[in-house]
Amino acid sequence: MAIFKLQINGRNYQTDVDADTPLLWVLRDSFGLTGTKYGCGIAQCGACTVHLDGEAVRSCVLPVSSVGKAKVTTIEGLSVNGDHPVQKAWNEIDVPQCGYCQAGQIMTAAAFLKRNPKPTQSQIDDIMTGNICRCGTYHRIREAVKLASTTAVSTKSAKTK
Ligand code: FES
Ligand code: FES
Repeated sequence: MAIFKLQINGRNYQTDVDADTPLLWVLRDSFGLTGTKYGCGIAQCGACTVHLDGEAVRSCVLPVSSVGKAKVTTIEGLSVNGDHPVQKAWNEIDVPQCGYCQAGQIMTAAAFLKRNPKPTQSQIDDIMTGNICRCGTYHRIREAVKLASTTAVSTKSAKTK
């Protein structure tokens, strides 16, 4: 066991766990941030996606010892009031069914749109294909990512006018 200090959603956290404990379990069990879900545990489904310095990563296979000083963002910290453009689009399109995969989907989409604010439909399909949804909400996910890309761009240009 060792002490690990992490910066998550703008706050400082500390835990005493084995160095190879996946970040997912530290988030959920040590810190109670249960919005991030366990699906497969082998980096195949995307349910556990969080951001590490803005990049989408699979927290089920990321040892806590490799996080270092990187800033972690979970679904709880994506926005203050659930008003990130991706979250707004998800509401608008009413994407979730059971909801289990959705935090991971949203975190993947948010990191992607930050890097690529005006994606084509095929770029959206490519990036989202790594996130599995047992309920098959893929259609609405595609639509919502597209909507989020247009809203985020128009919000930005409205602010700069
Ligand atoms: S739980 Fe991490 S990718 Fe499935
Ligand atoms: S909404 Fe149920 S698994 Fe995706």
